[in-house]
Amino acid sequence: MNTYRGKRIVVLGGAGFVGSHLCERLLAADAEAVTAVDNLATGDERNLVGLKNEARFDFVKHDICAPIPVRSPVDFVFNLASPASPADYAVLWLETMRTGSEGTLRGLELAQEKKAIFLQASTSEIYGDPLVHPQPESYSGNVDPTRPRSVYDEAKRYGEALVSAFRRSRGVSTRIVRIFNTYGPRMRLNDGRVVPAFVGQALRGEDFTVFGDGKQTRSFCYVDDMVEGIARLGASDVADPVNIGNPDERTMLEFAEAVRAAAGGGGKIVHQPLPEGDPKQRKPDITRAKALLGWEPKVSLVDGLAKTVAFFKTRV
Ligand SMILES: NC(=O)c1ccc[n+]([C@@H]2O[C@H](COP(=O)([O-])OP(=O)(O)OC[C@H]3O[C@@H](n4cnc5c(N)ncnc54)[C@H](O)[C@@H]3O)[C@@H](O)[C@H]2O)c1
Repeated sequence: MNTYRGKRIVVLGGAGFVGSHLCERLLAADAEAVTAVDNLATGDERNLVGLKNEARFDFVKHDICAPIPVRSPVDFVFNLASPASPADYAVLWLETMRTGSEGTLRGLELAQEKKAIFLQASTSEIYGDPLVHPQPESYSGNVDPTRPRSVYDEAKRYGEALVSAFRRSRGVSTRIVRIFNTYGPRMRLNDGRVVPAFVGQALRGEDFTVFGDGKQTRSFCYVDDMVEGIARLGASDVADPVNIGNPDERTMLEFAEAVRAAAGGGGKIVHQPLPEGDPKQRKPDITRAKALLGWEPKVSLVDGLAKTVAFFKTRV
C-alpha cells in the first residue's frame, strides 16, 4: 500500500540536505502536494532546482518559529528544520535552540489544527557521548546541558518531549526518527561535517584533517537509505522513537582512506585537537527499525561515496 498517494504534505526544512531528498521521495510516491517550508538558514534553494517545474511542489520561505502559514488541508507534517552540523550551530546558537523548541511547537500546532500526522527529525546526538554501544532507543544518553553542542542536543531532547506531550495531551499522531550521521549529494562543502570536509580535501589534493587520534568511530548512512527509513516510519503507526542509521561503523582513519579511494586523491593525514564534547563512538542499534518497519540500509559505503564524490566534483 502506498500511504502517501494523494496526500498533502508539509516538509519543514525542505530546502536542506535531507529535506530536499525527502520532498522528492514523497512526490515519487504520488503525493498530491508537497510544500517545503524553510528560512534558508542552512538550506539552499539550489537543492530544489529539480522540482521547479513540478506542479505538485511549492516552496515557502519562512522561519518556523513564527506560526506556519499553510491554509490548505495537510495530511502529514515532517519536521526536519534545524541547523544540523556542529559548525552551523556554533554560529546559530540561539537560532538552533529556538528552532528545536519554538519551531517544533509551531509545527505541532499546525499538525493539531490540520489533524495531520507529525514526524519529528531527532538525532543520535540525544545519546550524547554514549556509554552503551551500539545505542538502542531505550538508552537515555550521556549528555551535558552546558557543553557547546548542548544547544543542539538539548533542543532535540526537548523536541522529543514536546512531541510526546502533544501526543499524550492533544491526541496528535506523532513519530520520532533518531537520525544517525547521514551523507550524500547536497551536503554543503563547508558545513564542517566530516564527509564534505574529507571529500573536499581529497578533490583539492589537500591533507586530510583528522581530529584527535582518529580512532573515534562514526557510522554513515547514505541519504537514499535515510529517506526510505523516514518515509516508512511516517507511513507506520509507531509512536516510539526509531533509530535510522547505518551500523557499518568506521574509525575516522578508516573513513579518510575510504574517501581517498573513492575520490582518487588527497594528501597525508594531519591530526588536530579533538573538539570539546566530540563523541568517541556512535553506532545505531537498528533492531527496532528492522522489526517494525522492515527497514535496513542497502547502499554500501563504496557506492554511496562514489555518488557523493560525483556531486562534490560539481562544487569544488
Ligand atoms: N544529516 C545528518 O547527518 C543528521 C543527523 C542527525 C539528525 N539530523 C536532522 O535532520 C534534519 C535535517 O538535517 P540536514 O542534514 O538536512 O541539515 P540542513 O541544514 O541541510 O537542513 C536543515 C534545514 O532546516 C532549515 N531551517 C533551519 N532553521 C529553520 C527555521 N527556523 N525555519 C525554517 N527552516 C529552518 C535550514 O535552512 C535547512 O534547509 C535536521 O533536523 C537535523 O537535526 C541530520
